[in-house]
Amino acid sequence: MIIIQGSSNRSLSHELSQETGYPLANAEIKRFPDRECYIRILEKLEGKDVLIVSATFPDEQIVETLLIHDAVSRMNPASIRLLIPYFGYQRQDKLFKEGEAVSAQAVAGIFDGRFDEILTVDIHAEGVLNYFRRTSSRNFVASGQIARYFRNRNIDAVISPDGGVRAVDYAKEAAKVLNCEYDYFLKERIDATTVKLFPKKMDLNGKRVLVLDDIIATGGSMVAAIRRLKELYASEIYVGCTHGLFIGDAYERITGEAGEVVSTDTVETRASLVSVAPLIAGHLLGMRS
Ligand code: R5P
Repeated sequence: MIIIQGSSNRSLSHELSQETGYPLANAEIKRFPDRECYIRILEKLEGKDVLIVSATFPDEQIVETLLIHDAVSRMNPASIRLLIPYFGYQRQDKLFKEGEAVSAQAVAGIFDGRFDEILTVDIHAEGVLNYFRRTSSRNFVASGQIARYFRNRNIDAVISPDGGVRAVDYAKEAAKVLNCEYDYFLKERIDATTVKLFPKKMDLNGKRVLVLDDIIATGGSMVAAIRRLKELYASEIYVGCTHGLFIGDAYERITGEAGEVVSTDTVETRASLVSVAPLIAGHLLGMRS
């Protein structure tokens, strides 16, 4: 297998190469002055299994991923897999109001049928994978990896800022690794940047808490959760997430309120201290023919 790194995920691609021993392909990826993307693969790919690592966030990455696929598919490889570390548009996974686009389905449709397999990490809702109708897909869950990072912080409880089934399972998985309890808040989203957390009676007085979410975007949910935890007298508050988008000053706002803020390398930022590569490497190694 050979790995082609999209410009969104160079660090994760390197980690994957280290974990699996599969080489990184030489490729030229650049933007013209008008921001159009140019792709050239500088490797022979004939008969090879290829893994493309490229996100669908921000929007420009959608085209980049498509063009990498186009270049690769012209070189007669044996198979082409796509790892989408962060699947942008996944949160609009259904019609919430009449007249909307189902963005997750529309974006999935661009890639569906073009690959032998599509891999995702912590997809927001299971239903999103069903939008890949002609390509088999597989999702990896990173909360255990994040929990391991916090192993020596003596965490007493993992809290999800959201009561959705997936969010709670995510916290539960981390709590299993940390051998501690878990709980969740009930969240109501007021608008894109404001959320309201319903007071929930938890005994967190004097406890060290890890707040875990799949995505931090504007930071609104996380800041609301941290403030609520302070009202409940948590003694130390740590923050973890899989996809750290940290829009605007989200990172500063959260670090201003919590002890430590850590995300994975699905989106590469200064908070990306945990790699999801070990999760995915085993699957890729199993592909070895
Ligand atoms: C929502 O359901 C997700 O799990 C995250 O809680 C949400 O996307 C975070 O967004 P923000 O950081 O803008 O509050």
